[in-house]
Amino acid sequence: MSKITVVGAGNVGATAANVLALRGVADEVVMIDIKEGVSEGKAMDMMQTANLLDMNTRIKGVTNDYEATRGSDVVIITSGIPRKPGMTREELIGVNAGIVKSVTESVLKYSPDAVIICVSNPMDTMTYLIHKVSGLPKNRIIGMGGALDSSRFKYYLSQELKANPNEVEGMVIGGHGDTTMIPLKRFATLRGVPVKEYLADEKLDKIVADTMVGGATLTKLLGTSAWYAPGAAAAEVAEAVLHDQDAIIPCSALVDGEYGEKDLCIGVPCVLGKGGIKKIIELPLNEEEKELFRKSAEAVRKTNAALPE
Ligand code: NAI
Ligand code: 2OP
Repeated sequence: MSKITVVGAGNVGATAANVLALRGVADEVVMIDIKEGVSEGKAMDMMQTANLLDMNTRIKGVTNDYEATRGSDVVIITSGIPRKPGMTREELIGVNAGIVKSVTESVLKYSPDAVIICVSNPMDTMTYLIHKVSGLPKNRIIGMGGALDSSRFKYYLSQELKANPNEVEGMVIGGHGDTTMIPLKRFATLRGVPVKEYLADEKLDKIVADTMVGGATLTKLLGTSAWYAPGAAAAEVAEAVLHDQDAIIPCSALVDGEYGEKDLCIGVPCVLGKGGIKKIIELPLNEEEKELFRKSAEAVRKTNAALPE
């Protein structure tokens, strides 16, 4: 029996659980939250869609009861506060570090073999914190940011190309921050053809800029950060791991010399499958892209330095 736990049954967590259940990724999905009744209520609501949507996953919601998470194959951590309009992801560090640390300890007590997917922001730093707190092998901790940012990049490209988003390929690496992410325009394609064949430089640069503030744009519109694409992106990462897909998805991984960096978690293309990150792919970046990556790593490292002792 396969089992996924989602910690935090808020906007992103509940959406991830719902997507996982509707896609039948695991036999059981458990949502856990500290807010009395919220996980239980959302799980019941989702289970009442089972006969409407032909869903066969068992969804369970609990309040603070880690026993119910026992034996999970994958754990997605979404607990923590989201940003409000005008806030950066980095400003969330103080509150979220405490939450992510205690949640990691609780989760591993009951699921010592789980692969952990971190969503809570500032995500690269929270992923790094999970490494420090858990001491798990580096392949078993995955930060979800690049999956979402790449999907946003593909969305903006498809809008400008007037194409189906499913026919666009593109990748975002670097930190999951408004100024640190790196949409790789040189590697983006429409049906295998580089997008620069269709789009002028100014248009491509606007797409890159829109992608970088994609989260902030939605936060301004919604009054809190987005959840449909973040939840679906977290589910995509979990599915790749649980189903041993060998999918190439940019994720925040602990680098050890790749891209010239060490001792930090940052977005890089990863091969995801059984056990988590099977491999980090080193793209042939040009000098400009290398410099962007170096600056991004520097910024992520600066945020890591703000982690409480
Ligand atoms: P939300 O406020 O809707 O949900 C967060 C949930 O966490 C709440 O239900 C809260 O009760 C729960 N929680 C707080 N402390 C907890 C604990 N110790 N144990 C269990 N549950 C706890 O927030 P939302 O929108 O779901 O965002 C969650 C996090 O994900 C935020 O930090 C946000 O910035 C981040 N995020 C990250 C993205 C990414 O791409 N990495 C994308 C979108 C959001
Ligand atoms: C997002 O990108 C705020 O990380 C969140 O939507």
